[in-house]
Amino acid sequence: MTASTLSDSIDILHVSKRYAQQGGAPLAVLDDISLRVRAGEFVSVLGSSGCGKSTLLRLIAGLDTDYSGDIVVAGDKVRDTSLERGIVFQDHRLFPWLTASQNILAALRNAPLSAREKREAVAEHIALVGLKGFENAYPHQLSGGMAQRVAIARGLVNRPRVLLLDEPFGALDALTRGRLQNELQRIWEHERITMILVTHDVDEALYLGERVVTMAPRPGRIKRIVDVALPRPRERNDPRFIRLRDEVLADFADQDGTRREAREDRDDDRPNGGTRVPVASPPITEWRLAW
Ligand SMILES: Nc1ncnc2c1ncn2[C@@H]1O[C@H](COP(=O)(O)OP(=O)(O)O)[C@@H](O)[C@H]1O
Ligand SMILES: [Mg+2]
Repeated sequence: MTASTLSDSIDILHVSKRYAQQGGAPLAVLDDISLRVRAGEFVSVLGSSGCGKSTLLRLIAGLDTDYSGDIVVAGDKVRDTSLERGIVFQDHRLFPWLTASQNILAALRNAPLSAREKREAVAEHIALVGLKGFENAYPHQLSGGMAQRVAIARGLVNRPRVLLLDEPFGALDALTRGRLQNELQRIWEHERITMILVTHDVDEALYLGERVVTMAPRPGRIKRIVDVALPRPRERNDPRFIRLRDEVLADFADQDGTRREAREDRDDDRPNGGTRVPVASPPITEWRLAW
């Protein structure tokens, strides 16, 4: 377990990002994002497609350093990728020619461990994600959910301070998604590392996050930060959960064109989709305006 101290926080300070566009003005994707993520915290970043969530995660990961502002992790400015920050994407990105164990082992190539320690770390993380017995399976022999478990193990095997998750369950069927959400929660409780989960799924954001950061699009900016002060495991049918969900959805209604998308998100065939309640529910105390 990583020893977490206050200085292990992630500080995102006035971060703005533009992409150059051929023959046009640069595209402003992130605008003045400021956020402190506490050590060991689980933060969900929720926003509609194209609002800059992946871009923000790439900046935190150090995959892109061309931006203004600062991102400071555990006191150090992010200048590059680091073993301290694991990342999991929507597609598992496993090497098809390597087994589950070998894929996890590949992530340890730069780790200062002996061969034996690496083998032990791989075995430990295979067990952590519930894949004992599948060590020697190749990605094509694994279901989507199992492959994503391998990707999570690979993201954790270097014992990072931070795990960044970019819509990790977005490509999974409804039942598998619900199961993996529970697994991720269990792993977070066990490992106590900081997790930042990017999603456009309101339920997922509220189910997992201690705080939910909602983003507005064009350019991407933080709209609100919601404290989810509900005990775990959370009940999607808990009236408090439903109220929070509706508040978040109503918040998206203010955004040009995003209400329909958020509603559609919620109306799919997920068993965990919850019950629709009138939008005009009374104001609730769990809300906290970010500023
Ligand atoms: N490498 C890139 N070059 C130019 N534009 C990009 C690039 N990556 C993303 N974008 C644009 O930036 C915006 C935000 O993208 P992204 O961060 O992927 O959003 P999200 O993850 O919220 O869907 C989109 O309009 C997208 O088209
Ligand atoms: Mg994305």
